[in-house]
Amino acid sequence: MDTDMKKLTILVTGGLGSIGHVLCKRLIKEGHSVVIVDDLSVGHKEFLEDMPRAKLYECSVSDYKSLKKAFKENNIDAVYHLAARHYIPYCETHPKETMETNVFGTLNIITLMKEHKVPRLIFASTSSVYEPRERPYKEDDKFGTVNIYGVSKLVCEHAIQNYGPHYDITYTIARFFNVYGTDDLVHHVIPELVQQAQNSDVIKVGNLHAKRDFIHVDDIVDAIVKCLENEKARNNIYNIGTGRAISIQDVVDAICKAAGKKFKIEVDEKRKRKVDPPVLLADNSKIIKDLDWHPDKGFSLEKIYAETKFWPVDPRS
Ligand SMILES: NC(=O)c1ccc[n+]([C@@H]2O[C@H](COP(=O)([O-])OP(=O)(O)OC[C@H]3O[C@@H](n4cnc5c(N)ncnc54)[C@H](O)[C@@H]3O)[C@@H](O)[C@H]2O)c1
Repeated sequence: MDTDMKKLTILVTGGLGSIGHVLCKRLIKEGHSVVIVDDLSVGHKEFLEDMPRAKLYECSVSDYKSLKKAFKENNIDAVYHLAARHYIPYCETHPKETMETNVFGTLNIITLMKEHKVPRLIFASTSSVYEPRERPYKEDDKFGTVNIYGVSKLVCEHAIQNYGPHYDITYTIARFFNVYGTDDLVHHVIPELVQQAQNSDVIKVGNLHAKRDFIHVDDIVDAIVKCLENEKARNNIYNIGTGRAISIQDVVDAICKAAGKKFKIEVDEKRKRKVDPPVLLADNSKIIKDLDWHPDKGFSLEKIYAETKFWPVDPRS
């Protein structure tokens, strides 16, 4: 952390979510003031207990009038825009809600940033914007999203890149790969498999062969804090992944090892996704070079297995 950095007032949308709450705690620790916009559809108010002085606006990013209040009542210096619908099976069955939250929510954010002269935006995008393939993705690789979630994020990226210069907004687009941590509120594969292993002798999976670049939430937060601090991140795009792909079979093996027992592994057709890219892997050389960021949390499923907290699962997550 650059200790000379000015203390800012930072608005974090989705600040009570899986990544958002870790980010807010970090920003507060660094001495910044944090304003959270979260509709609590997935997020949890309990996280506020560890966030002294954080101010919460309980509203949707798609509700322009309520969102405006958060901008009007605070002198915001920068925005981390994380709030989104992103659990792919839910997005596929709720395309309108996905577009409303993700696209109209983002348009509301940039419009209000312009109105209130907020100069800096860091936007949470995704590896789902890329065309499926086996090799690692570079930031300028071809788009070719295969789900409505990826489409919604791609529209946001284009809007931010096109309007940013006209609205005096300097942006960073951060394309996260598969994020995991002990407080994951979303029905992602790691918490799902850990939960099964803790409650049953059978582990059911959709696709054992898919490979993903699993990145720890603390590494994601380190990266996006560096994006705010570093000039090179201005009007730039970064892949944020470890550069290492792990198969679901490897995840299952690690969970079995962590649990210290044998499981019956069942491939469950119902859990298979209609379109499931075989590999999602980051070429992370750009962010390493520009921001001197290194994902150093490793992949310790033993730790995750022991420490994962299970939160009530919302069907949207
Ligand atoms: N977790 C991952 O693996 C991953 C990977 C790629 C990209 N991302 C992106 O990172 C961001 C954060 O992901 P996360 O894992 O923390 O998700 P999350 O679902 O745990 O958190 C999202 C937060 O946003 C809030 N929210 C949802 N809709 C809202 C709305 N309309 N208005 C206000 N608040 C709303 C939820 O209540 C929740 O607190 C998302 O934009 C997601 O698309 C996540």
